[in-house]
Amino acid sequence: MTFKVMGVTAGRKDSNSEILLKEALLACEKQGAEIIMINLRDYNIMDCIGCTACTEGMTEGKYVGCTLDKRDDKKAIMDVMLNQDAVIMAAPTYDLMPTATFLKFMHRNLSYESSFLEAIHAIEHRDRVGALIAVGGSTRSWQSMSLEAMQATCFTNDFKIVDMYLATRVPAPKQCLLHDDMIKRAEKIGNNVMKSLNTPVEKRGWLGDEDMGWCPNCHSNALILGEPQWDGISFPIECQVCGAGGDLEKTEKGKWKFVIAENGLCRDRTDIKGRTHHVEEITHTQGGFYTAENLAIVKEKFPKYKNIKFPKIEIIKK
Ligand SMILES: Cc1cc2nc3c(=O)[nH]c(=O)nc-3n(C[C@H](O)[C@H](O)[C@H](O)COP(=O)(O)O)c2cc1C
Repeated sequence: MTFKVMGVTAGRKDSNSEILLKEALLACEKQGAEIIMINLRDYNIMDCIGCTACTEGMTEGKYVGCTLDKRDDKKAIMDVMLNQDAVIMAAPTYDLMPTATFLKFMHRNLSYESSFLEAIHAIEHRDRVGALIAVGGSTRSWQSMSLEAMQATCFTNDFKIVDMYLATRVPAPKQCLLHDDMIKRAEKIGNNVMKSLNTPVEKRGWLGDEDMGWCPNCHSNALILGEPQWDGISFPIECQVCGAGGDLEKTEKGKWKFVIAENGLCRDRTDIKGRTHHVEEITHTQGGFYTAENLAIVKEKFPKYKNIKFPKIEIIKK
């Protein structure tokens, strides 16, 4: 079977993200994969306008697509991307997180939420694999949300992340070429993606660096203090990315580690079950908003805000 692997980048042309992504894709190609690669800078991608038509459709059990489907290139890309066995994403870090070009593209995935589309039998379930490369001019300290935010955008379409790599201290264009270890690590990303594709789905697991990050579930390096969730469940500590719940415990060596509670994966966002639960939350919270009583309250209170017109910046067109 020929596997299809797609590379998606949002970096500068011919620069670090593109080079590392190409190295990973070459490794996949060497093992017989059919490759396609895009740089999001070449496409017209509009911002999600927050119309919520897609989630309102979901609360009614209907697939309505995205309001912007015909207005930009997102749908044409998704038609190809959702037909892949694996996707490798490479994005530069801007202000500690992936560049907006990448985020803008991925934030448009909501209307393609596969847990919902599968539930209403609009699509067949497909197990996909993903791997991430984040590139930055500094160390992890200045890239603290890059891989985490990239992974957070991958859940919607079930790209199960099997490897992640943070390429650090390469601020200048093509600077990664001075580091053979970086090129090797990118090649390993490609090899790991192929290894995963050649493994039965139920046996696929994490192939990245052992002990990467705090979270043993998704390997993110970001934890938050837990708060009660919409249905009352709460954990002292949560993984910011996958939502695993647990607490910090001290190991025998005196180091802190994040230990996932027995029921701590009940909200696992990397899993279709966990996201189905979130669709229930949307149905409950957003769907529950549209009652005659609530709409009457909004109608009464909103004119105060509607009528406020603070001075804004007028742009004079030359
Ligand atoms: C607006 C801007 C913000 C940046 N912010 C960060 C940052 O917060 N942390 C970091 O490590 N690098 C930062 N960088 C450096 C880029 O991540 C770095 O140049 C990277 O190599 C770009 O990848 P590319 O060559 O694939 O385009 C920033 C660069 C720009 C242009």
